[in-house]
Amino acid sequence: MITFSKSALPKSGAVIVPVFADGANTAAFDNLDDMTGGALSRAVKAADFSGKQGQQVDVIGPDGINNSMILLIGVGSKQDMTALEAQNLGGKAVARFFRSPEKSISIALEGFECDGQEAGDLHAAVGFGARLRAYSFDTYRTKAEKSELPSLGKVTINTPAAAEAKKAFADFDKIAEGVFTARDLVSEPANILHPETYAARCQELESVGLEVTVLGEKEMKKLGMGSLLGVGQGSVRESKLVVMKWMGGKKGQKPVCFVGKGVTFDTGGISLKPPAGMWDMKWDMGGSAAVTGAMVALAGRKAKANVIGIIGLVENMPDGNAQRPGDVVTSMSGQTIEVLNTDAEGRLVLADALTYTQEKFKPAAIVDLATLTGAIIISLAHEYGGCFSPDDELVTALTDAGKATGEELWRMPLGKAHDDMIKSDIADMKNIGGREGGSSSAAAFLKRFVSDDIPWAHLDIAGMAWQNKDKPTCPKGGAGYGVRLLDEFIRANYEN
Ligand code: BES
Ligand code: MN
Ligand code: ZN
Repeated sequence: MITFSKSALPKSGAVIVPVFADGANTAAFDNLDDMTGGALSRAVKAADFSGKQGQQVDVIGPDGINNSMILLIGVGSKQDMTALEAQNLGGKAVARFFRSPEKSISIALEGFECDGQEAGDLHAAVGFGARLRAYSFDTYRTKAEKSELPSLGKVTINTPAAAEAKKAFADFDKIAEGVFTARDLVSEPANILHPETYAARCQELESVGLEVTVLGEKEMKKLGMGSLLGVGQGSVRESKLVVMKWMGGKKGQKPVCFVGKGVTFDTGGISLKPPAGMWDMKWDMGGSAAVTGAMVALAGRKAKANVIGIIGLVENMPDGNAQRPGDVVTSMSGQTIEVLNTDAEGRLVLADALTYTQEKFKPAAIVDLATLTGAIIISLAHEYGGCFSPDDELVTALTDAGKATGEELWRMPLGKAHDDMIKSDIADMKNIGGREGGSSSAAAFLKRFVSDDIPWAHLDIAGMAWQNKDKPTCPKGGAGYGVRLLDEFIRANYEN
């Protein structure tokens, strides 16, 4: 879908031209302006267009080029240009034409450059943004009008650095596949994607080079995973634990492990959630989707690192056989848990997944991802994932990866006071700590299942897995949040 061409001018379709705010026109702009007899300069004047970010002007059917449209997109000042801004440019270009009669568009980038970035890399980033935005989930729309469905099939990036950009784009392309894998998983309704079908989909990922193992309830019972199994007890679907391995690093090098919450639907269980908005709980497997997508990305670009993804797949249902508030379960670690609220189920799933991970794989580090608490949305809205960890270095590595990819994290507190909140009268701990600091007491719960000598971080992504608003590189809906972050975290810290 994304191609790079050295020719300065496209042969057909609409053309997109970036415009800097500081007045310096790109060569692409000047060329097209000449070819159209000054149509671009006239449009800039008439629309009072200054090249500020967020500004766009349609130049409809100017003479001299393709009889098509030219879209000017403001990209802000040249000094502030970053790879992420370049991605946004590509995303905005696609957004404008994705569901239009256009079948192909071109982004004219000659002279679109900035300090500190090779043109090839910058232009590849434009392609990445375009690719990320060209996503839709239309599986179940059988009656959609043609105009509602994607029409755009081809995006050409016109750049003198075409060869370099194409090379740099190869990895981006694989990362985008990982992001789309995650978006697809998050978007599927829970009658289609439940623990059994989800595990089967993971199994299919052997085709991209992952080694996949699936544990069923029998195996998990044998391992003593009473905490995870208790959550799935009310479901007619069998709970699963899926392990996906990518061992692209040195032999014998300890793996990094990603652990994901995969609650394919969270009704709350007997502590039933209110009906309004309950449909959102189809994406309560967003942590597991990020892990799965990241594994696809890493395998796709043949990352030189050993990475293992472990996801706990359960459906949290009320039922005659469901667990009750007040039940006490024994986790794989041997620690007992008083389940005071069956809706605080994610931590119960992760507890056993974490114990299994650390016992089985002796990891160099563990990062878990989960749509764990509503409270994190109150704290951080839909802007940051919450990062909880006692390990300063790991926090820095993760927040840096977030900044680099635009999938940002914010460190949240995790202290002894939070651990005190989950003391139980009759068991080793209880599974709720109260409303106040609810995200931190949830993190404190998880911490009890990881030994102190393993670097560990917990990412609460409840506010990030699903976005209700379009963003330049992500249409509203399943965001695939976490895939780029985890991929970058591996690339920057564990390769070479
Ligand atoms: N899956 C929810 C958290 C959630 C809420 C994710 C909203 C995305 C959007 C989680 O299992 C849950 O129900 N958490 C409870 C915990 C409480 C019972 C301690 C919550 O946040 O209310
Ligand atoms: Mn819940
Ligand atoms: Zn949940």
